[in-house]
Amino acid sequence: MLSAARVIQYAPARKVPCAVAASASVRPSAAPSICPKSVRTLTKTARSTRSDHISPQARSHQSASNNGLISPHPAVATAGHQYRTMATSSSPSPSVQFGEKYVTAGLSRSLNAVVEKGEGSYLFVEDGRKMLDFTCGIGVTNLGHCHPRISAAAAKQCMEVVHMQCSIAFHPPYLKLIEKVLPLMPDPSLNSFFWWNSGSEAIEAAIKIARTATGRQNIISMQGAYHGRTFGAMAVTKSKTVYSEGVHPLMPGVYTLPYPYWHHFGLPPSTPSSQLSSLCLAQLDLLLKQQTAPRDTAAILIETVLGEGGYIPAPPEFLRGLREVCDKHGILLIIDEVQCGYGRAGKQFAIEYSGVRPDIMTIAKGLANGFPLSGVISRKEITDKLKAGSMGGTYAGNAVACAAACEVVDVMREEKVLENVNERSQELFTALNALRNNPKLAPCILDVRGQGLMVAVEFASPVGTGAHDPFVNPSVPKSLASRIAKRCQEKGMLILTTSVYEVIRFIPPLNITKEDLAKGCQIFKKAVEEVVREG
Ligand SMILES: Cc1ncc(COP(=O)(O)O)c(C=O)c1O
Repeated sequence: MLSAARVIQYAPARKVPCAVAASASVRPSAAPSICPKSVRTLTKTARSTRSDHISPQARSHQSASNNGLISPHPAVATAGHQYRTMATSSSPSPSVQFGEKYVTAGLSRSLNAVVEKGEGSYLFVEDGRKMLDFTCGIGVTNLGHCHPRISAAAAKQCMEVVHMQCSIAFHPPYLKLIEKVLPLMPDPSLNSFFWWNSGSEAIEAAIKIARTATGRQNIISMQGAYHGRTFGAMAVTKSKTVYSEGVHPLMPGVYTLPYPYWHHFGLPPSTPSSQLSSLCLAQLDLLLKQQTAPRDTAAILIETVLGEGGYIPAPPEFLRGLREVCDKHGILLIIDEVQCGYGRAGKQFAIEYSGVRPDIMTIAKGLANGFPLSGVISRKEITDKLKAGSMGGTYAGNAVACAAACEVVDVMREEKVLENVNERSQELFTALNALRNNPKLAPCILDVRGQGLMVAVEFASPVGTGAHDPFVNPSVPKSLASRIAKRCQEKGMLILTTSVYEVIRFIPPLNITKEDLAKGCQIFKKAVEEVVREG
């Protein structure tokens, strides 16, 4: 434990000593901080230019730009603000140095800074920078940071019941959330709910349900899949070795199926998705004959849109093929919508594009817009096989998180968020395809792909990350994706890379305005042009 005296060392950047005890009061838009007093002092100057003082004209401008459908976040209106987009110093601030010293080296950070506040599509950094957030905390704050209605719903719940442990009793938001989410399910058979905390835990629970319900052990997951960092979730994760390197053995009984994407097979981009799907389904046939017999196979697990594997939507015919194989052999189909669900891919759930019925579905991330909550949803006849007490967890289905999630459902419907996703998605694809069609940039861009506002640009690689990459291009600059992401940061926008290839992923808020999306596209364009020019 850090002593209070040592914690005071956190504040020297702000030159305001403070005690560690943070106020427990709940204010809808208050960002928690280690030292609220010093934060207040530090931001006093900047605050006068922030949201509280935004002109009515600026508010109505933002509202008009989205046909009035999306709640305006005050900080989104940029007129007259005095925030910077660029860092003034390249050396880490004292707060960051403190974090670097005391926070585990096992965490990586794409922005080595302290974010003090988030509002709508923007983040505010302690050094006075205002940054457009195209990460949404990896697809979580999908309705923008500190959405006023969601924060207010959580604050209200804080004064009613905060924690009602799920093995002791129900609490109202737990049940209300089921009532609200039930009609949204991609198939009416999905009628048995378990609220959990994180995506990884949801995956663990899904595996446990599948094993219990089928009496079988083995799980087939996809090449490139990401399902989390707990031991079962790590075992079914196939996106990067970093997650499990050095900590084997993992959960046994996991088999891997290739994912239907052209360059994974050394095929050209023009390869039809039907051909890729057939290839992978043939591999599945072999897997079930050569490695894991159907009678030993509990489930096939797939992200509807591969996330950490590069933002690649699964072709509908592949998902339908998996459904057929599962039906034939009594294998359960687990659909992981932790990242691609909840409107991110342009429909409530990405699986809707294929019409495929999941046996078990996992959801999280955007579900509660930042409050930790995940869900495992299945059929009652499947979950009725579980023994009472076999599921559960101290914080599972926390009341504050469930209350926030209830509000998320209402906001998404009332503010017509899905419509916004699809309109902005078209604009994003238009902007990115324009880059791909630019003769100076075209040799560096392999693909623009995705669904809704889960979109990726894959750049060519000068060295290739695999012997089968047929698009190794010796003249292409190195590390394009990470250099471009860094350049975007320098220009005031946060954006992430993904996969073992050179991929940048776009995860803007689902309620982003037309103007902010255009601004982000412009920053990205400039960053790509500069980095490619520099070589
Ligand atoms: C598809 C998918 N499944 C599972 C997880 C794990 O979720 P968590 O990080 O909440 O444990 C993630 C996280 O990124 C994910 O994208």
